[in-house]
Amino acid sequence: MCGIVGVIDSKDCQKIVFEGLKKLQYRGYDSAGICLKNDKGLHTYKTKGTIDSLIKKSPEIKDAYVAIGHTRWATHGEVSEKNAHPITSLNGEWAIVHNGIIENFEELKDNLVKEGHVFKTETDSEVIASLLSLKNFKNDVENLIWATKKLKGSYAFCAMKNDKERSIFIAKNKSPLYIYCKDNTSIVASDPICFPEGEYYKMEDLEFAQVSQSEVIFYNIKGEKIIKQPITNMAVMQDVSKNGYEHFMLKEIYETPEALQNLYTNLKDYDFSKIKKWWINKVKLIGCGTAFHSCLMGARFFKKFLKIDAEAITASEFRYDYEILDSTTLCIFVSQSGETADTIAAAEKAKKFTKKIISLTNVAHSTLASISSITLPISAGPEIAVASTKAYCCQVAALYLLANAFTEKRFDKALKKIKRLSNILERFYVNLGKFAFDIAGENSIFFIGRGADYVTALEGALKLKEISYINCNAFAAGELKHGVLTLIEKETPVIVIATDKKIIEKTMNSAFEAKARGAKLYLITALPPHLVNIEKFEMCLSLPNVDKDLICVLTTIPLQLLAYNVAVMKGNNPDMPRNLAKAVTVE
Ligand code: F6R
Repeated sequence: MCGIVGVIDSKDCQKIVFEGLKKLQYRGYDSAGICLKNDKGLHTYKTKGTIDSLIKKSPEIKDAYVAIGHTRWATHGEVSEKNAHPITSLNGEWAIVHNGIIENFEELKDNLVKEGHVFKTETDSEVIASLLSLKNFKNDVENLIWATKKLKGSYAFCAMKNDKERSIFIAKNKSPLYIYCKDNTSIVASDPICFPEGEYYKMEDLEFAQVSQSEVIFYNIKGEKIIKQPITNMAVMQDVSKNGYEHFMLKEIYETPEALQNLYTNLKDYDFSKIKKWWINKVKLIGCGTAFHSCLMGARFFKKFLKIDAEAITASEFRYDYEILDSTTLCIFVSQSGETADTIAAAEKAKKFTKKIISLTNVAHSTLASISSITLPISAGPEIAVASTKAYCCQVAALYLLANAFTEKRFDKALKKIKRLSNILERFYVNLGKFAFDIAGENSIFFIGRGADYVTALEGALKLKEISYINCNAFAAGELKHGVLTLIEKETPVIVIATDKKIIEKTMNSAFEAKARGAKLYLITALPPHLVNIEKFEMCLSLPNVDKDLICVLTTIPLQLLAYNVAVMKGNNPDMPRNLAKAVTVE
C-alpha cells in the first residue's frame, strides 16, 4: 500500500512533497518520511504517525532541489521510525520510496546478505535500495532496469541518487504511478490528485522513467526509449474541508442526501443501451469490505427485479476460488476508491472470461475504471474518512438503479424512488448519544437481521468494529440457534434490525431466544410498535417507512452514526482508525 511522491523543483520541493503526502494519507498513515537533496547531499527525516508529525520534525531545507516522500501502511516490518521510508542503501548512494510488496524479498535479501549487505530495516523495500547500489553501470537507467528485473511482486518506486543531478528514477508494476512535468516542476505520485491542473503521464506496468526538472524520458524493459502520450488531469482534488463538523466521517454521513441527489442527476440520462443489449445468464458482484456488503444488497436487487441468478463474492476469494464464468456472465465490481488491489485483480481474472464488466466507483480516473467495459459513477463525492459511509449508500442506490435499468418504465420509477429517498433523508438524522453511551463500554456486540436487514447488520457491525475497536459480529437472525447462542451472556448487547413485515415474527423469535439467555436487545425498525413487541427492548429506534427495497439505505445511517458516536466517546479518531487505510492497494 502506501503513497509515494517525488518532486524536482528548485524552490518548493519540500512543500510540494508534504502537500502531496497529505493528499495520499488515504493510502496509509502508519509512518511518514522525506529525503531531500541539496548540494550537500541527502537529508532524510522519518517519523511514526502522520504527515503533520513529519512536518513538525523536518527542518526546512530551502535549497533542496529534489525530494522523495512516503506515507506508509505497514506490510513487512512493524510500524516504527526505522521501517519508515525513504530507505537508503547501506553505502548511502541511493534513497528510495516504495509502494507495493516485493514477493521474493526474502530470497533476494539472503543473496544480498551473502554478498555482505547489512539490512537496517525489516521491510521488503530495502532490497530495492540494496540492488540499486550493487552494480556500477555507466548509465543510471541501466542500473534501474537491472535492479527492477530482479523483483517479483507489485511495486511503484521512486529512487534518487546521492549526486548533484536533478533527476528521479522510477519503475512500476501493478501499483499506480503518475508523472506531471510542466514549467520547471516535475512531480511523480501514486495518484494524480497530487498534481496541479494540466496534463500528466500514466505509467504502465514494466515501464521506467528518468524524470528531470523539465523532461521525462520513458523506457521499456529492454532499455529502449519509448514515447508516451499525456492525459488530461481531471483528478485535481477539491480542497475538502470539514465544513464545521468535528470529523470528516460525521460530515460525510450528513452528506448522504446530497450524494444520492448527485447520483440521481448523473444517472438519470445515462445511456444504458449497451448494457441492455447484453445477453446475460448470471450476475456476479464483487467487492471488499463495505463494498462487498453493497454487492450483497445488489445481488438481492438483481434476483428480485431481473429474476436472474446473482451472487456476491468478496474479491479476495473470487481471485483464487472456483468461479464458473463465461461470456454470458455479467461481472459487477464495486469499489469506492477503484484502487483496491483484490478488486482489480478479480476484475482482471473476470476479463479473461467475459467482456461484460461493469465497475461502480467513486473515482473516475481509477485503475478499476480503466479496466472495465463500463463504469458507473457512484457520485458520492470525496470520501476522506477511512470508514465508508455515504459511498456505501450510493453504491446500494446505484446497484438498485442498475438492476432496474433494463426496462425504461422500471428505471424511471426507480429514479423517482431514489429522489424521494434523498428528500426523506434530509429530514432524518437522529441523536444516538444515549444508545452509544449504553454500548461504548462493551467488549462484544451482536447484530442480527434477516434478508436485507442481515446485510445491514453486517455493515453496521463492520462500521462499529472498525472505529470503536469493539468485537462486533453480525448474524442472520435464524442462525443464532445454530451455535452463536453459546456466546450470549447476561447483558450481551444484541442490535436487531427488523424492517421486513413479512418475516417480522421470525426475526422477533430469534431476538427473544437471545433475550431468554440474558441478552440486552436494541431495535432498529420501520414497523409499527404493535408488530415488534417494543417493551422487550432496551431501546427502539423508529425509522420513517420508505420504499421497502430502499429502506436498507435509511437503516444504515443510524448504524453509521452509532459507530461514530461510540468511537468519539472512546477517544478514538473516527477518521483514521488504527491499522487501516482508505485504499487497500496491496493484496
Ligand atoms: C469500511 C471500508 C472498507 C472498504 C474496502 C473496499 O468502512 O471502508 O471495508 O470498503 O476496503 O474499499 P473500496 O471500496 O475502495 O474498494
